[in-house]
Amino acid sequence: MSDRDADHLLVRLRDGARVTVRPCTEADEPALRCLLSGLRPQSRRMRFFTGGLDMDGAAHMSAATGEGRFGLVAHDETGALVAHALYAQLDSTHAEVGVEVADHLHGRGLGTLLIEQLAAEAERHGVTTFVADVLPENRAMLDVFRDGFDARVRFREGIDKVEFPTSSWRAASERFPESQASSPAHLRAP
Ligand SMILES: CC(C)(COP(=O)(O)OP(=O)(O)OC[C@H]1O[C@@H](n2cnc3c(N)ncnc32)[C@H](O)[C@@H]1OP(=O)(O)O)[C@@H](O)C(=O)NCCC(=O)NCCS
Repeated sequence: MSDRDADHLLVRLRDGARVTVRPCTEADEPALRCLLSGLRPQSRRMRFFTGGLDMDGAAHMSAATGEGRFGLVAHDETGALVAHALYAQLDSTHAEVGVEVADHLHGRGLGTLLIEQLAAEAERHGVTTFVADVLPENRAMLDVFRDGFDARVRFREGIDKVEFPTSSWRAASERFPESQASSPAHLRAP
């Protein structure tokens, strides 16, 4: 269940927990650093392909918006930043997508919801295709992309290359209607 209020969504996850989702800004950089440093090393490796992440650099890049970059952050009821996702345009029609969810909230629909919201916003900007590089052992991410967004996955040089149409956000929102925005509108770049 969710509710749309101006520039943020109030969402009830499938376990009943409530989160607020809103566009990311550069002011989120310190909280993003906390999210990234709180992830299990294995989760950080899945997201950034390295165990020895430059935490300050990664938080800075994650918070950067504008010029074909759009991010979303989710906060729990205590105000802690518990998830982040962004897309960065590669050209006028393609963008790379990435997401990370705090470990204790995995499997509740948050990753799916954030990608769905990003895809809707990207589509509005003429981006037709999301791509992502995923480690082959990252079953959770591959399942979300394949099951939720009908992604095509091709193995190349040790990496799973994922590609799916941004329009597939509609199918994802139909599959899990309890997690979607209550109005057809979606979160937009500020
Ligand atoms: C990969 C990752 C982002 C997935 O996020 P998540 O929030 O756990 O994923 P979801 O909860 O949306 O999806 C997980 C499962 O819930 C299901 N689901 C999603 N929304 C749902 C809903 N509203 N109701 C019921 N089920 C739902 C999905 O189909 C999926 O099912 P499965 O486990 O049977 O395959 C998360 O594991 C993570 O942060 N990993 C570390 C970082 C990383 O790997 N990032 C990706 C790099 S590109």
